[in-house]
Amino acid sequence: MSKTIAILPGDGIGPEIIVEAVKVLEILNILFELELQLEEGLIGGAAIDATGQPLPPETLELVKKADAVLLGAVGGPKWESLDIANRPEKGLLGLRSELELFANLRPALLFPELANASTLKPEVVKGLDILIVRELTGGIYFGQPRGIHALDNGELQGFNTLIYNESEIERIARIAFESAQKRQKRLCSVDKANVLEATELWREIVTRVSKDYPNVQLTHMYVDNAAMQLVRAPKQFDVIVTTNMFGDILSDLASQLTGSIGMLPSASLDANNKGMYEPIHGSAPDIAGQNIANPLATILSVAMMLRYSLNKPELANLIEDAVSQVLRVKCGVLATL
Ligand code: IPM
Ligand code: MG
Repeated sequence: MSKTIAILPGDGIGPEIIVEAVKVLEILNILFELELQLEEGLIGGAAIDATGQPLPPETLELVKKADAVLLGAVGGPKWESLDIANRPEKGLLGLRSELELFANLRPALLFPELANASTLKPEVVKGLDILIVRELTGGIYFGQPRGIHALDNGELQGFNTLIYNESEIERIARIAFESAQKRQKRLCSVDKANVLEATELWREIVTRVSKDYPNVQLTHMYVDNAAMQLVRAPKQFDVIVTTNMFGDILSDLASQLTGSIGMLPSASLDANNKGMYEPIHGSAPDIAGQNIANPLATILSVAMMLRYSLNKPELANLIEDAVSQVLRVKCGVLATL
């Protein structure tokens, strides 16, 4: 039976990296008769320019009927003066919440060829293999009330709400424990439970859920310490589970351990493993249009799509091996220059 894959290039380098990833998907589609139908849609700034909205109804219809979504990146200076509710990023956040993609998996893996590309010493990052599980549809990025209003004295006040329900914490914790069970069985839950009640509850619920996964070793860490530990001794981590905002920040940090922000793919999954796949980096407007953006994170996102949503782990391995080979050849060539 044929499957629909929604392709949303977005803004900045988005279309450039998506073109390369689609080449990989198309070739596998032909070689392995996957019967994938690729359908393109508008998202972010490109959608604002064409329709006035960052997430047009046609795109929503497309992603809802699709079996998986591949997304490039959204945003850029062109749309920064718009009201926050109408910016390109709202399109992405809208997609995540409309599709209930609450579980965001961000693997930070060091390809050995890139050990020297990291800003950290090779011995600190060699063999690095971390999975960041980021809660994606809750927390301060979605919490109400939010806004900017004038106080009685005329001063402006900006406010957001960090809010987590027990069920939201429990479901992301289960994904993290299950992921850890397939890996080294170590889970570190990152919070700020010493200051924020919402994450005090986070810690309590994660601890409660841990009783169902006795073979996974659970630790807790405050986010400030986690940021420091990630650059001090990153290999101490196996799986990290954390809130939406902390996961956003720590995954950018983790990308640098791997040598380039252009190397980290991600999968955002719902309760049935329907997923959206995207590189963790942004639209990089400073290098857009020059065809120099690294497409590997997007290509690796295609691998994640094959593994999680299309049930083709062997093809995911094929892509990952190909990326490894490309790096070996390229880095080998560079080393001889
Ligand atoms: C990411 C990005 C997005 C986020 C932006 C573009 C809204 O930084 O996927 O990490 O904050 O989640
Ligand atoms: Mg981010």
